[in-house]
Amino acid sequence: MIQGKKFEKARKTAKEWLAKMTLTEKIGQLSQFGTSIYSDDENTYSDHFAEGKVGSYLTIKGAEKTNQVQKELLSKTRLPIPAVFADDVIHGYRTTMPTPLAQSCTWDPAIVEDCGSVQAKEAYRDGIRWTFTPMIDIARDPRWGRIMEGFGEDPFLCSRLTEAAVSGIQGKEIGEKDKLLSCLKHFVAYGACIGGRDYNSVDICEQTLRDVYLPSFKAGVDAGAATIMSAFNDINGVPATANRHTLHDILRKEWGFNGFVVSDAGAINELLNHGFASDPKHAAELAFTAGVDMNMAGDLYNDVLPVLLEEGKVTMEQIDDAVVRILTLKIMLGLMDEPYTEEEDNSRECYFSPEHRAVSREAGKHAIVLLENDGVLPLKKNQKIALVGPLMDNKEHVLGGWACLDDPSKTVSILEGMTEAFGEEQIIAAKGCDIEGDNREGFAEAVAAAEKADVIVAVMGEHRSMSGEAMNRSDIRLPGIQEEFIHTLAQTGKPIVLLASSGRPLVLTNVREKANAMLMMWQLGTETGHAVADVLTGAHNPSGHLTATMPWSVGQIPINYSHFNTGRPALNVCWFESKYMDAPIDPLYPFGYGKSYTEFAYSNAKLDKESISMNETLTVTVDVTNTGDVAGYDVVQLYVRDMVGSRVRPIRELKGFEKVWLEAKETKTLTFTISPADLAFTNNAMQTVTEPGDFQIFVAHHALDSDICLPFCITC
Ligand code: NOJ
Repeated sequence: MIQGKKFEKARKTAKEWLAKMTLTEKIGQLSQFGTSIYSDDENTYSDHFAEGKVGSYLTIKGAEKTNQVQKELLSKTRLPIPAVFADDVIHGYRTTMPTPLAQSCTWDPAIVEDCGSVQAKEAYRDGIRWTFTPMIDIARDPRWGRIMEGFGEDPFLCSRLTEAAVSGIQGKEIGEKDKLLSCLKHFVAYGACIGGRDYNSVDICEQTLRDVYLPSFKAGVDAGAATIMSAFNDINGVPATANRHTLHDILRKEWGFNGFVVSDAGAINELLNHGFASDPKHAAELAFTAGVDMNMAGDLYNDVLPVLLEEGKVTMEQIDDAVVRILTLKIMLGLMDEPYTEEEDNSRECYFSPEHRAVSREAGKHAIVLLENDGVLPLKKNQKIALVGPLMDNKEHVLGGWACLDDPSKTVSILEGMTEAFGEEQIIAAKGCDIEGDNREGFAEAVAAAEKADVIVAVMGEHRSMSGEAMNRSDIRLPGIQEEFIHTLAQTGKPIVLLASSGRPLVLTNVREKANAMLMMWQLGTETGHAVADVLTGAHNPSGHLTATMPWSVGQIPINYSHFNTGRPALNVCWFESKYMDAPIDPLYPFGYGKSYTEFAYSNAKLDKESISMNETLTVTVDVTNTGDVAGYDVVQLYVRDMVGSRVRPIRELKGFEKVWLEAKETKTLTFTISPADLAFTNNAMQTVTEPGDFQIFVAHHALDSDICLPFCITC
């Protein structure tokens, strides 16, 4: 929660400003403009300045440009209230970090925090003070293109990474140099869109909303996130942007959120398309009274809030409250005292600096998930490598979607990274085919390269615009003729290391058998080539673990590990089970899965008690041993199952994890603490309760690992 003396003082000052403002000026603070698909690229709305009708901008880039617009605004307005410049710094401003989904596969809050810090610093240096990050929508449908923007399918992990992201972006106290206001988005349940189709409806029960989709937002609010963006989707028939239940009753009243809410771009006007509002004025009334303080993007609030006030449909108090929320944050940012940003070139020397590249490389190598390895990895220094596939020398698609002012010329391609690591004479490069299309002309050259080599490294996958907003796919296998290309390469008999680069989990079922090693490398950003080489050489022992299930087929989607058991679970004991006739019930790779160049074993797992009361805690200890010959990180995962509930409970839920470094043959004892409150859920009366009864704890390598199961009970 935003709190403390600075906040209280800023609120007081905001009220003093408010007392001097006209109605038009007040509503101007609630209006954001910008260069987006909803407005004209060059229009800075300078004709609005004299009346004070601009509160914020989105996507105006560059220190000179933001300063110039700010200067003009402040020279023309009656009250010198600066605009706050916002942008989508999703995983990098100039130096690009791995996509958020890739970052989440590090299971490392410190890495996510470091990435957030770099993103914030680079954007700050260009005049941005507010970013629409982090995107913390739980995503359980990899067809949905926006799965790449978030932290995966699990509310517990997503919550911990949300806290880290908010801290990296926003710092300890709002207004620090090189920090930005963060914005939790999209409130709420956007990731539950039916069919994985962006903007589509969401139909979930209140309990699922509260237990799955809200926790990451609550964690972000508690961590002090300053703003929240309302989502495009409807939730059970009520659009999120006009949803008083979620925006007012839950966010403001239950959680006490004291920052401000911005709509998504054009989302208020879209209430007409939803069939929820009869005209723009009605839409503004619904959104504003539900709790949307700022309209992104355009004049809607400027135009209609005065009329709505006159008609008694909104109150002056509601307008004042929204204005104070926005002004308070502008004051905390220090904008009233210093509305401009430094223009000196040296303030932007951090772009693509060695320090920022190092953060990207570190995140990248920790994000790569090793799915298969028959021993071909790590590669040996003297091996001849056929480096093939449409992404092997690509500098753009590996940056991923939503990269702000990235610069592909600054990307370390995989070819460059591998050449640096192995030497030019060791690499024979041949693309073989494109990402899409059916041009097989390059197959022969790639096969010839493979025949001359000891090992094939094939870099396959998606281009950057295949995921992100509105980039949904109904077939999430490798696009084009890439599967066929791998099958062709396999005929050479040479071992294949398949690197899959994409924004989303892919269905790799048809190629798995052909690969001796397979890695999800996601889209790793500026330092892609170095991060990949670090893993393939063994300089970094792979440590990434999946944060979203990789399905066996598209037909299994939506798929996630923490589903209910059903009355007829698929146990393969009789015909009438909850199963598919033409596909397994299990995914290709479960949540939490990820291999290493070593092996980790768990032993001596125990609980300090067999039974706890509602005010006691339970301690779980386990010895983790690196049984192999190389050092590495393990991600030890703790899942809980509530055996019987007044509502059916998931077959397991993540309740703890620890990423631990172990030297070869080293053993460490880890301790996890569980309290009854950690096991609470929403009951039929919409109360958050922990019910007494039997539970099981799993200390596991991934969500389907049941080897260590410890029963305990909670008494009344
Ligand atoms: C629409 C997207 O849904 C949102 O995530 C983004 O922040 C805004 N556009 C602004 O670009």
